[in-house]
Amino acid sequence: MRIDVVSLFPEFVAQVASHGVVGRAQERGLLSIHGWNPRDHAEGNYRRVDDRPFGGGPGMVMMIDPLRSALQAARGADPAPAKVVYLSPQGVPLTQARVRELAGRERLVLLCGRYEGVDERLLAAEVDEEISIGDYVLSGGELAAAVVIDAVARLQDGALNDAESAVQDSFEGDGLLDCPHYTRPVEHALGAVPEVLLSGNHAEIARWRRRQSLSRTRQRRPDLLDRAALTEAERRWLDG
Ligand code: ADE
Repeated sequence: MRIDVVSLFPEFVAQVASHGVVGRAQERGLLSIHGWNPRDHAEGNYRRVDDRPFGGGPGMVMMIDPLRSALQAARGADPAPAKVVYLSPQGVPLTQARVRELAGRERLVLLCGRYEGVDERLLAAEVDEEISIGDYVLSGGELAAAVVIDAVARLQDGALNDAESAVQDSFEGDGLLDCPHYTRPVEHALGAVPEVLLSGNHAEIARWRRRQSLSRTRQRRPDLLDRAALTEAERRWLDG
């Protein structure tokens, strides 16, 4: 998969993406990340990329042409068609389902805004999807782009060392939060490992984990339960 990032700070995104699973995915040739700076496509001595908003008000707005030219360069760098995603708090919420959809594509172009925003005409003409990573405001789209890259990278075939671990994660499959995990030592001043996990009884362990997932989801994210894939018995257990 190829991801192009259009940003005033493309090195920042590349740096974030050079560690851990994402860095390894790049080393394994599963993912390549390329940065494009609209300033390199701006004209004049000052290479201006922003201007004051029409109608007045605070802040600056990113101009059409430097962004458009950077986007065109990004698109043209590879013949495969790219989906262009703009990161913004006005976008549709990023969910694991959306991450899966993005991860299945051959190419993505992530457009990061700075300042108060981007000229709406550029967004209307060039952007396929606007995505938000949550109901809070960042000072630019770069961290959001890094979030998308991380979430998408770990779903590439061969990115994770234990292929199973992506399937068991929170939000995958059944739509529940993950169960708690423990490792050695069994006894510790902070507490003991739940006995069932030491029992070797795989059916009991699976049942315990499922119940932990259910009760945790009810406690922390009850909104997820409506859409979760539960059996009638599990719904009764939650109600009881
Ligand atoms: N840019 C600024 N805030 C953002 C957010 N919450 N999600 C995505 N991009 C953003």
